Amino acid sequence: MILKGGTQNCISPSESHLERSIIINRISIESPQCRLKSITSSSESMSSLSEALPVCISSINTQLNADNTGLGFAVAEASLESGAFVTISSSSSSRVESSVEALKKSYPAGKVQGYGCDLSKPTVEKDIEDLFTKTGKVDHIVFTAGDKLASVPIQEATYEFIQRAGQVRFIAPLLVAKVGSRYLEKSPQSSITLTTGTVAEHPIPNWSVVASYAAGLHGMTKNLAIDLKPIRVNLVSPGFVDTELWKDMSTGEKEEMMKGIADKVPTGKVAKPEDVAEAYLWLMKDSNVTGFVASSDSGSRLV
Ligand SMILES: NC(=O)c1ccc[n+]([C@@H]2O[C@H](COP(=O)([O-])OP(=O)(O)OC[C@H]3O[C@@H](n4cnc5c(N)ncnc54)[C@H](OP(=O)(O)O)[C@@H]3O)[C@@H](O)[C@H]2O)c1
Repeated sequence: MILKGGTQNCISPSESHLERSIIINRISIESPQCRLKSITSSSESMSSLSEALPVCISSINTQLNADNTGLGFAVAEASLESGAFVTISSSSSSRVESSVEALKKSYPAGKVQGYGCDLSKPTVEKDIEDLFTKTGKVDHIVFTAGDKLASVPIQEATYEFIQRAGQVRFIAPLLVAKVGSRYLEKSPQSSITLTTGTVAEHPIPNWSVVASYAAGLHGMTKNLAIDLKPIRVNLVSPGFVDTELWKDMSTGEKEEMMKGIADKVPTGKVAKPEDVAEAYLWLMKDSNVTGFVASSDSGSRLV
C-alpha cells in the first residue's frame, strides 16, 4: 500500500531518485516543499490516501485562532500535508473534536479522525487499549502528550507528587508502546516516536523530577527499540518551543524568557512547533533509524 500522493507533481525529472526514496512508507511522506501540492492533488491520490493506515498522534494541542499550537498539532498538520491518514488524541474529547474540525478546515482533502483518551487515570492501560481498538491497525505512533511540568524545589517533591508527575510523561508512553506495538505491522516501516526534552541532558534548577523522567525516556527508547524490533522506536528532544506548554506564564514573563533564549542559542531564534515537527516526520519515514534521539533544540545543548 504505497501511496502516490502526488509527488510527480512536485518533483522535477532530475530529482526522480528522490521521488523513489521518499515514497517509502505506507503513508507517503514527502519533502516539505511538496506537501501542500500533494494534499490538493488529484482524485487518484485521494483514493490512495483512503487506503493508508493512520498515524496515531497522542496528544495534540491547538488553541484555535492562535499561532502557538502544540507539537502534536504541528505533527498532525505535517502528516496530513504528506498524505497520511491521521488519528489524534488528547484527554479531552471536545478539544479533540475541535482540533479535528480545524485540521479538516485547513486540509479539506485530508483524512483525520480523533478520540479522547485521558492518560492520567489508573486505568491508563485499558484506556490505551480502548483507543487502539478504535483506530485499528496503524503505521506509525507519535507520542507528544505532556501535562503541567512538575518543576518544584526538590524539598517540596513528595512521594505522591513524584509518582503523579511520571504518569503521563513516563508510564503512559511505555504503555502506548506496549499496547500500540500490537497494532503496528512487525516491520521496520512501522515506527513509534516518543518525546522528551533537553532537560534530560542539560539541568535546570528545580527540574529534578521532570529531568528524571525526561532522561528515563532515553533509556526507554533504546530498550524498546530492541524489545519491539523490527518496529523502530525513536525519541525527539525539543529545546524551548513556543507552545501552549507555557500558557501559565504571563505574557511579560514569557516574552522575557523567549528573548533570553533567542539571545543565547546558536540559531538565534525560538523554535516553532512546525520546525520540530520535521524531526518526527524524518523519524517516521526513515526506516533505517531506530533507538535514536533527535535533538531539535536550537542548538541549546551546546551553550
Ligand atoms: N514546548 C516546549 O518548549 C517543549 C520543550 C521540550 C519538551 N517538550 C515536551 O513535548 C511534549 C509536547 O509539548 P507541547 O509543547 O506540544 O505541549 P502542549 O502544547 O501543552 O501539548 C501537550 C498535550 O498533551 C495533552 N495532554 C495533557 N494531559 C493529558 C492527559 N492526561 N492525557 C492525554 N493527553 C494529555 C494536552 O491535551 P489535553 O489538555 O487536551 O489533554 C496537549 O495536547 C511535552 O511532553 C513537553 O514536555 C516541550
